[in-house]
Amino acid sequence: IKSEPTIFFLFGGTGDLTSRKLVPALYNLYIDGRMPTHFQIVAMGRTQYSNDAFRDVLLKDIKQFSRKRVGQAPPETWDQFAKHIFFQVSDINNPQTYQEQSERIAEFGKICSGEPNVVYYLAVAPRFFSTIAENISKFKLAANPEKARIVIEKPFGHNLESARQLNQLLGGVFSEQQIYRIDHYLGKETVQNILALRFSNSIFEPLWNRNYIDHIQISVSEQLGVGSRGGYYDESGALRDMIQNHILQLLCLVAMEPPTSFQADEVRNKKVDVLHSMRKFTAEDVKKNAVRGQYSKGWMEGQELPGYREEPGVAPDSNTETFAAIKFHIDNWRWHGVPFYLRTGKRMHQSSSVIMIQFKDVPHLIFPSEAIEGWQQNRLIISIQPEMSVRLQIQAKRPGLDMTLNPVDMIFDYNGTYTGDTPEAYETLLLDTMLGDQTLFMRGDQVEAAWDLVMPILNAWGGKKSISFPNYPVDSWGPETAESLIAKDGFHWFTLP
Ligand code: BG6
Repeated sequence: IKSEPTIFFLFGGTGDLTSRKLVPALYNLYIDGRMPTHFQIVAMGRTQYSNDAFRDVLLKDIKQFSRKRVGQAPPETWDQFAKHIFFQVSDINNPQTYQEQSERIAEFGKICSGEPNVVYYLAVAPRFFSTIAENISKFKLAANPEKARIVIEKPFGHNLESARQLNQLLGGVFSEQQIYRIDHYLGKETVQNILALRFSNSIFEPLWNRNYIDHIQISVSEQLGVGSRGGYYDESGALRDMIQNHILQLLCLVAMEPPTSFQADEVRNKKVDVLHSMRKFTAEDVKKNAVRGQYSKGWMEGQELPGYREEPGVAPDSNTETFAAIKFHIDNWRWHGVPFYLRTGKRMHQSSSVIMIQFKDVPHLIFPSEAIEGWQQNRLIISIQPEMSVRLQIQAKRPGLDMTLNPVDMIFDYNGTYTGDTPEAYETLLLDTMLGDQTLFMRGDQVEAAWDLVMPILNAWGGKKSISFPNYPVDSWGPETAESLIAKDGFHWFTLP
């Protein structure tokens, strides 16, 4: 499907997201022939750049960050693409900025002989959202709900109340069909595949419930620390930064009921149902079922790394968590009694995002104990990154004269199955904003439901009483209490070999 003429306004046009993700994604879409014939990318910022000077800056970024290398496309490709890029020197507080946008849209409309799609991409700090939205409204820049769209980056609110306020603010200017709330995890190839795996195969659905599933783990561990983002992260923490959004979205995809179609709202209705069915924590539950951690300095791969409190931008006595592990329950017919264990952390031993679905054990074992060399209940392991695979762990007979059982994997590995590299999440998501497809974006009620769920934990953790941080070293699997959280139910955290 070819999208219609589109003009992108990138607020935060000189920022990191624009140079590392947005422009490279648009460039890749261009090479893949997925950009419309008529499009403009207008980066907005206060720096005085001419179009040419700005294009030169972007070329350097493309060379560094683009999936497809500049040399991979015919030599003239960059020049052709760059002609669509413009820099608008602007100040978001100055009405003239929006007047100029209005003129640009009109000019562009003349070139493409019709009303173009207009995408306002807010790659700026949340404190600027209201000024931009109000001006867009004042200058009637989003009057046509079929054509104008706004893209909002995370964080979408800092808590339930601020998320509600932001929804209200945006709702005063845009209709829900115009608002694209980004959760980049939803654009990942392997995350989209969860829907394909569950709803285009018949063999999983009969087993996908409390009768056959023992428990589910979703683990997103990162070797990276907070790097240069200490200022932001210290106000946020692992629960806000990863669990409220990315990991709960993964959980929704795993736990949702089958949608009636692949229409955006059908899918999103079923996802929000999951959030509404999740058991809310009491203060007592927080103590029992939620664990937090913060990393201390240590060695990783031969390098000595600072502890979280020594990172730039972080308070030396910070109580912000860089690790969280939580056990959730979903109170509905499908999942009654099936625990969902979620964990995420920075500076952990491995970078790996994995969903592990463990099935119940066989009801009766016919083999003698000598036959069992290794025993593992069946597992379906969806590896999101860096390995991209789906593994079904089964018991099998080891070849030989004896009946000896051990666990083996049936593996669907992306690298072995498909050739060519995989589009980045932002390529998928930006294409969807042009096509007007909201399936992979978060609806306002979803975001609020996710905040509502984590608020009791945030409130408990935000209290004055400090826990003894730091409590896990760099290059570990988090604090010991994370292991006890799951061990007391008789399980262990799963890690890929
Ligand atoms: C971001 C978080 O949303 O996701 C980061 O703010 C985190 O702290 C990142 O590192 C993880 O994304 P990915 O795609 O690298 O798994």
